[in-house]
Amino acid sequence: MEITPSGQACGATIAGLDLSKPLDDTTIADIRAAWLEHHVLAFPDQQLADDDLERFTLAFGPFGEDPFIAPIPGRDHIIAVKREAGELAPLFAENWHTDWSFQKDPPAGTCLYGITIPPTGGDTLYANQHAALEAMPDALRRRIEGKQAIHSAKNAYSPDGTYGEADRAKGRSMDIRPSSDAEATQLHPIIRQHPETGREGLYSCIGYIAGIEGMDQDEALALLMELYQWQTRDEFVYRHQWEPNMLVMWDNRSVLHRATGGYEGHARLLHRTTIGSQPA
Ligand SMILES: [Fe+2]
Repeated sequence: MEITPSGQACGATIAGLDLSKPLDDTTIADIRAAWLEHHVLAFPDQQLADDDLERFTLAFGPFGEDPFIAPIPGRDHIIAVKREAGELAPLFAENWHTDWSFQKDPPAGTCLYGITIPPTGGDTLYANQHAALEAMPDALRRRIEGKQAIHSAKNAYSPDGTYGEADRAKGRSMDIRPSSDAEATQLHPIIRQHPETGREGLYSCIGYIAGIEGMDQDEALALLMELYQWQTRDEFVYRHQWEPNMLVMWDNRSVLHRATGGYEGHARLLHRTTIGSQPA
């Protein structure tokens, strides 16, 4: 396999593999090593059926648990990230986040396979949170050191959240299922070591962080906003451009990501799986 780094803050393209065939252990280990180094891997020109996407995902861990979005018919672990050509609902996942960080054991990674890709726009942005922490001014770092963030999906997936009942009325094509379960909270350290590499990074951001343990709420939100501005600076960002038949896998423990628009009038469809966290 041939690895070409993006030249940006993270990301690499992998050529020379056919992911429609089972991979041997050496190749899986090589992909994992590249994933841990580059955080976002793109595999262009792959003809993948849903079975292939599932087999690839399972080479890197168990499936994650995906709440709030119904799987596609006939599959338990694949969701469709889609938008109709004429869809008027706000863009899905346009705010920076890392997938399901409000879970006790959030997914280690996400795999996303491009099926219908518009001719322009629809880039996915990734922000390298190891780089963001390493470059962080000491004064800001001291304010978050040792702090636990209170994660919750409530702003997104509770019945009155961004993707709640009002959103359903806007004709969104994605099968989102808001629930009061989204109001649950989960603590994670703001600065934490990557469980596989040991490298320190910032974990998640204000999208799924609703407060900071032991801190006044106004003070916490101001700090989380300031942190967010730092976490998503251009210098930490890789802009990923999609092609049809491209698979991307990213490391939710290392990067934030967000969707972008710019493809009005065009349909877009990708199939997504999550890689669950490895047993310790
Ligand atoms: Fe996401």
